[in-house]
Amino acid sequence: MSLENNLKDGLAQRIICKLTKAVPSTVSRCIAKHKIPGLDGVYHERGTKGIRYSLSDARKIIKDITNIPRKVIKKKHAFYNFKGGTGKTSLCFQIAHHLSIMGYNVLAIDADPQAHLSTSFGLMSGDCMTLYDVITQSCAFEEAIIEVSEGLACIPSNLSLTKLEVELSGLPKREERMLIDLKPLENKYDFILIDTNPTISVLNRNVICYSDSIHIVCETHPYSLNGLKILIDDLEKFFRLMLVDAKHLNIIPNKYEDRSINSAECIAALRKYYGQYLSQEFIIRRSEDIITSSKVGKPLAYFAKTNSNALQDIIDLMYHIINFSTDSNEKNKK
Ligand SMILES: Nc1ncnc2c1ncn2[C@@H]1O[C@H](COP(=O)(O)OP(=O)(O)O)[C@@H](O)[C@H]1O
Ligand SMILES: [Mg+2]
Repeated sequence: MSLENNLKDGLAQRIICKLTKAVPSTVSRCIAKHKIPGLDGVYHERGTKGIRYSLSDARKIIKDITNIPRKVIKKKHAFYNFKGGTGKTSLCFQIAHHLSIMGYNVLAIDADPQAHLSTSFGLMSGDCMTLYDVITQSCAFEEAIIEVSEGLACIPSNLSLTKLEVELSGLPKREERMLIDLKPLENKYDFILIDTNPTISVLNRNVICYSDSIHIVCETHPYSLNGLKILIDDLEKFFRLMLVDAKHLNIIPNKYEDRSINSAECIAALRKYYGQYLSQEFIIRRSEDIITSSKVGKPLAYFAKTNSNALQDIIDLMYHIINFSTDSNEKNKK
């Protein structure tokens, strides 16, 4: 079952340029070289400007014209915070889709019983197999995976995940079940993204042990700094207790408002206290596009205008993730 319906309008050439940072003539040359047809099934020899391309063809074009490294070293990325409403699901949705558009194979795991990520992928997940079924071994992990679109699959969630807490408590290595049970999946995907629920739970401990990178999605609001201190202290203590190496932490400042003194003060404080976890390369601004995009189930590349702030911010974040997750030596070899 593929749910590509939301993506049937295809991708415009100008968006492919934006995603790849290529000039239009580079994209046109690639289209001409491979005689790639537009969505109408016809190859347009001249003037490809207004033509839209299927996801499959857009992935081919993007793979052909970019030299982003394909060897991913940090595959597993959690979107994390104890606080609800910070933007974990929205950003996980965008990054999962956009990495797949760039030609990577992505698995998104919904680890929140509220199943917002599954819903934004267009899944009616009430009766689906979930992480609960995988960890309790009531199904093989393949049975829990649903194809969302080319290059993007999902292990959905539903309320069954709430039962997992009790089940996990009775299992040996209860914080490491995902690490053990999902190991065979790792070779099949370039990126595995996990959306979490905002609690301190054994399930979230599993996500922490499982992930290579933990993206702490943080609102740029004065109160969010208090919560951040508790969260980072907790993570550091957990790494010590579990005797695992500290994971790569990446703070994603979200809902930034350009002319807000509070937003500016919050970023200054984040830089001062948590500068080592913060990149200069991106910040996610507050934008209606992000809200509407997940509501209608279309990632920003399909939905937003070329000059959308939200699209630009997501592209910057995506490149940041690609850069620290991949083997940059490979890029030079190509
Ligand atoms: N950058 C943003 N600009 C505007 N609204 C945002 C932004 N990021 C998230 N939101 C909105 O904030 C709300 C909470 O986001 P969500 O992703 O569900 O958070 P979480 O998963 O952390 O609970 C949603 O209504 C979402 O559309
Ligand atoms: Mg959420």
